[in-house]
Amino acid sequence: MRTVYVNGSYLPETEAHVSIFDRGFLFADGVYEVTLVLGGKLVDFAAHLHRLHRSLNELRIAPPVSDDDLLDIHRALIRQNQIDEGLIYLQVTRGAADRDFLFPDAATPRTLVLFTQKKAILNNPVAERGQRVITIEDLRWRRCDIKTVQLLYPSLAKMEAKSRGADDAWLVRDGFVTEGTSNNAYIVTRNGTIVTRDLSTDILHGVTRHSVLQCAHDLQLKVEERPFAVGEIGEAAEAFTTSSSGLVNPVVEIDGATIGDGNPGPIAKRLRHIYIQRSRDTAI
Ligand code: PDD
Repeated sequence: MRTVYVNGSYLPETEAHVSIFDRGFLFADGVYEVTLVLGGKLVDFAAHLHRLHRSLNELRIAPPVSDDDLLDIHRALIRQNQIDEGLIYLQVTRGAADRDFLFPDAATPRTLVLFTQKKAILNNPVAERGQRVITIEDLRWRRCDIKTVQLLYPSLAKMEAKSRGADDAWLVRDGFVTEGTSNNAYIVTRNGTIVTRDLSTDILHGVTRHSVLQCAHDLQLKVEERPFAVGEIGEAAEAFTTSSSGLVNPVVEIDGATIGDGNPGPIAKRLRHIYIQRSRDTAI
């Protein structure tokens, strides 16, 4: 059984509880992070902390504990659950208060929960064969840059993809791809340019996106940060997604049409390889 963390205590997962009045439960009034663990170490931890603070700040939720404490908790959970490869989920909510649309007093203790997921991240059969993706309208709210726990629409979109025999969905606003349900989206044009949407309130500022674009820069690959149209995907040489759980994950089919030769492309494969190396080298 897993040991999880809730509000200062390390407990068996069956004994960890949160109030029914928690605003995360009633209003989706909370934010989260998912950090990759490789070789028992945290990948890009500083960037996850940075984004956590940004999300909290946008929602005016005060950090529940210090950054040093957060690092200690992550490491304690890795140790206690013997995680070599997997993910750590962290969630902060505005805490428990009588139901009211107005925020409770700022002194209300925030809820802090963390748990581990043991998972084969490197050996991923979908990454080997390439993902099949559908496009679907992006009906999320307009602050997708804040990593809130309101994930119902992405969940519905993923179910729609599954019901159509695909692995995931790319979300589309005004004819342009914003991002995947839980990843950032990229195409590689026939002249070898990597294209991914520029940072704005329309997408989550992916930690993996930042690192992978740095890898691309180091490899002297051409990168354009701009919205790309759905019509450009069919013309692309390759496509891929990035996320902490999927790393660099090739896409080989969009709405039933083959991308490139239908196999994971060379640039996606190279970036996946380099990104994994870089992550192993820099994990803490
Ligand atoms: N999802 N875009 C969205 C909408 C996401 O939910 C995620 C992450 C990303 C990629 O961000 P990062 O590279 O920092 O993981 C982009 C996480 C993994 C999840 O919800 O499980």
